[in-house]
Amino acid sequence: MDEQALRQQVVEAARALNASGINQGTSGNVSARIDGGLLITPTSLPYEQMGPGDLVALDLQGQPLVDDQRRPSSEWRLHADILRSRPEAMAVVHCHSTSATALACHGRGIPPFHYMVAIAGGSDLRCAPYDLFGTQAFSDGALAALQGRQAALLAHHGQVCVGASLQQALRLAIEVETLARMYLQALALGEPPLLSRGQMAAVQHQFATLLYGST
Ligand code: 13P
Repeated sequence: MDEQALRQQVVEAARALNASGINQGTSGNVSARIDGGLLITPTSLPYEQMGPGDLVALDLQGQPLVDDQRRPSSEWRLHADILRSRPEAMAVVHCHSTSATALACHGRGIPPFHYMVAIAGGSDLRCAPYDLFGTQAFSDGALAALQGRQAALLAHHGQVCVGASLQQALRLAIEVETLARMYLQALALGEPPLLSRGQMAAVQHQFATLLYGST
C-alpha cells in the first residue's frame, strides 16, 4: 500500500477508535509501520480535525523522517519500541477504554475466565506496572507485558494492542474492552472459575485450525 493510502487508514482508524466508544478525545493514539519507521498520530490533535498530512513519520528510534512535521504522540516511544521489537506487527493501537482501564487501575490483567482471552495470543492478558506515560520505563513495562501477546493492560492508564493490520489492532482493542467489561460483570458474583491450561491450549488450537482472528 502506498503511504498516502496508509495515512488515510491511520486517520480512519483513529476516528473509528472514538466512534466505537473505546476511547474519547485525544487520549489514545494509533501507528502503522512504513518503510524504515512508522506513521503516528500527532499529540493532542482532535481526530475530527486531523487529516492524513498531520500524521508524523518517525524512524524506529523516534527520529523524524521528514522536516516540519507536527509533534508526534507523547506515546511515540511505546509505538516505536513495539514495532522495532515485533517485526510481525504492522500497527499499534493504544487507548483508555473504560473497563480495561478500570481493571488496570487495580493492577489486574484478565485471566482465562472466557475462551476469547486467547485471541490476544495466550491464556491471559497481563497488566503492565504503572509508570509515567511517554517514558522509557513505561514502554519497557508495556513490552514485557506484551511478551507472547498482542494486547496488554497498562496500570492506571489503559490498554495497548498490536496487529498485522490497523483493522486487526483496532478489532483486538474492542475485544479487549469487551472482555474487560464481561470480567468486571462476572466479578460482581465473585471471582469466576477459570478455564484450565489444557482448555485454553485447545482454544488456541481451534483458533489456528479455523484461522480465527487472522484477518
Ligand atoms: P497523545 O495525544 O500525545 O497521543 O496522548 C494521549 C495518550 O494516550 C497519553 O497516554
